[in-house]
Amino acid sequence: MSRRIAAIVAHDDSVPPEVLSAHIPTDPGIEVVAVLERLVLTTDDIRRSDADALIVVCREHSADGLALAEWWHNVRPGRPVVVMSEGDDEIFVERVFAAGADDFIVISPSPDAADKTRADLEFAIRKAVARNYTGSERAPDSGTLLAVLGPKGGSGKTVTSTNLAVALASRGRRTALVDLDLHFGDVALALDLNPHLTSFDLAVSGGGIDAEKLDDFMLRHPSGLRVLSAPVKPDQAASVSPGLMLDVYSLLRREYDFVIVDTPPSFTPEVIATIDNASAVCMVVMLDALSLKNARLGLETLDLMGFPEDKVRILLSRAGTSVGISESDAVEIMGRKLDILVPSDRSVSRSLGDGVPLVVSQPKSEVARAYEALADLFSAPPEEGEAAAKPRRGWGRRRKQEGDQDATLAGAGQSKV
Ligand SMILES: Nc1ncnc2c1ncn2[C@@H]1O[C@H](COP(=O)(O)OP(=O)(O)OP(=O)(O)O)[C@@H](O)[C@H]1O
Ligand SMILES: [Mg+2]
Repeated sequence: MSRRIAAIVAHDDSVPPEVLSAHIPTDPGIEVVAVLERLVLTTDDIRRSDADALIVVCREHSADGLALAEWWHNVRPGRPVVVMSEGDDEIFVERVFAAGADDFIVISPSPDAADKTRADLEFAIRKAVARNYTGSERAPDSGTLLAVLGPKGGSGKTVTSTNLAVALASRGRRTALVDLDLHFGDVALALDLNPHLTSFDLAVSGGGIDAEKLDDFMLRHPSGLRVLSAPVKPDQAASVSPGLMLDVYSLLRREYDFVIVDTPPSFTPEVIATIDNASAVCMVVMLDALSLKNARLGLETLDLMGFPEDKVRILLSRAGTSVGISESDAVEIMGRKLDILVPSDRSVSRSLGDGVPLVVSQPKSEVARAYEALADLFSAPPEEGEAAAKPRRGWGRRRKQEGDQDATLAGAGQSKV
């Protein structure tokens, strides 16, 4: 027997209630878990959206209906969305499918037609669920996708992402770093890489993407790290859709042990889609009331999204700075222990300017050790001989070995994620 499908119905007032209720699925295998009388979902709906499918019932050409279908398609990849409307203007139907809908069904106001269109709807949902479940199965050997979050600007996300990614690559782990700060990303700058190709170029390259094509758009860092740079101009950001990023993640996870994603300081649709696909999160906070409050809200949002708490690590950036808030205050505000403490060090801003992360330029510094400890949290040591078996390691490994002799763990005693 096939599994039960949980579906949400979101509708506007274009369809009379009796017509709408005649189209609510009665198939025993499909359970309607929520009927929302609006087409704009709230944060609270994210929790409910843990359903297998969404049914959008809207008037013809409804911008909200199209936006909702697109949002769901991007944020809930692999979970179908079916749009229903009384009108089936050709352009509208085209836009429905362009938004990512799996199917479109015309609602006939005639009671005689209700049984037929409801059956069409039930079939469309079953078909789309079946297709998506088979199509989106993750490769069994897929790599760790780690989202580096920090809902306040300037908290240290990019410093964290770049140091962590280079630390992992220098250990011989196949590592990719994706700059998801689509408007103001500065990962390439922080690693002294020329962003001659970016996610924007990938987005407008036309055709589908496969591993080989994606690799052509990744920048090469001497440590062996590969980087997908953010667009160089803010107006190019809109071309990089959450759907594209999900395809990118899926390809990268097959090729790399680690995919680190640096994010902007907000829960944009791309960030939500990333979290939905992430295996772990590193939340970067500072000893600053706003940063801690936002991070706490961020943790609550992760919780609403059903993200497992034990896959979230908290990193305190610029620890030890005397700003009137202590580390124990931070623990109290966050309601969580701090996993890694990165001390404040003026060399950090110099390292950003030079484009050389501290894990390379000053591997014995406290900051570098803290980031090595973060890398320890996410990775087991490479197998004997693994690093030697892989090319493109020379530069990073040499530098790393200098700091290996007396490396200590700033986050010692933590369990791996
Ligand atoms: N441990 C540290 N010690 C001293 N300064 C630091 C430290 N970590 C980060 N900084 C400084 O904080 C500033 C912001 O860091 P970073 O760019 O990593 O933040 P971000 O969270 O990525 O910011 P945005 O949200 O704007 O992308 C940089 O100028 C950096 O030099
Ligand atoms: Mg940043």
